[in-house]
Amino acid sequence: MARVRPILNGVPETLLWTLYNRAYEAGQPYPVLDDPVALRLLKDLDYPFEERFGRPNAFHSQAQGLRSRCFDLAVQGYLADRPQATVVALGDGLETGFWRVDNGRLNWLSVELPEVAELRRALLPASDRLRTLSRSATDLSWLDEIEDPEGRGVVVTTQGLLMYLPPKEVRRILAACAERLPGGVLVLDTMARWLARGTVAGTSKAGGMTIPPMRWAMNPGERHKLRSAHPGITEVRALRLPRGRGAMGELIRIQSLLPGLRTLTPAMTQLRFGGRTSH
Ligand SMILES: C[S@@+](CC[C@H](N)C(=O)[O-])C[C@H]1O[C@@H](n2cnc3c(N)ncnc32)[C@H](O)[C@@H]1O
Repeated sequence: MARVRPILNGVPETLLWTLYNRAYEAGQPYPVLDDPVALRLLKDLDYPFEERFGRPNAFHSQAQGLRSRCFDLAVQGYLADRPQATVVALGDGLETGFWRVDNGRLNWLSVELPEVAELRRALLPASDRLRTLSRSATDLSWLDEIEDPEGRGVVVTTQGLLMYLPPKEVRRILAACAERLPGGVLVLDTMARWLARGTVAGTSKAGGMTIPPMRWAMNPGERHKLRSAHPGITEVRALRLPRGRGAMGELIRIQSLLPGLRTLTPAMTQLRFGGRTSH
């Protein structure tokens, strides 16, 4: 296959940054993330990763791998009870979670902006249980595309997406999921307010890339406020990063538990949606 040169700007370009870090981790001995599809993607893309994002650093790339692993574990936890559930991955980028968690029975719906949806289709293997929708996550009509006539369950993931949306849109998405997906869960990651401030000021860099503004931020202590988005949110649960590899993995774990330092990495949260409510 000829190598594909992605032309992405702004938030969509950040998917190459997360892919780069994830694939770097996946290429280490005893990686926290087993991800041959991500490693292959890196080869298929004609893109100056190192020039644009700098050399991956051991802390950041492993933390990135652990973030993906944490999403995978949440999805697998849901699938354990509902193996035929639909996974809806909002802002899926070139994430390869489908191949990491596929149990042969789930359905997967990626919702991405058109330029990224096109890349996914060009670069990733097809499956009759995988669909990619060219649509903004803020266009809530993606909810109509979930085929779940028998109530097999839905898990929504939003890895690395919500922080880039206006707070009003985040609330709309959470409320719509709570309203429309009773019995479902949604997994999200959040950046701390102090970190997001640097991105809004335009001073936060990843190598040569200026990180786009993160408009929605939340400190870990504010999680409980998510419940106010909709009465159908019946549980807000903090998810711990899984154990990492070696001394760096231990450092990431300790950092993620210490009140003063834990905001260096994203906080992970799972929302559970209860029965249908009218309001
Ligand atoms: C940091 S990347 C994360 C990609 C992937 N989830 C990952 O973890 O590697 C942010 C992603 O959000 C997508 N995105 C940004 N705004 C979006 C929107 N309104 N609707 C759907 N996707 C969006 C971008 O195209 C990009 O793929």
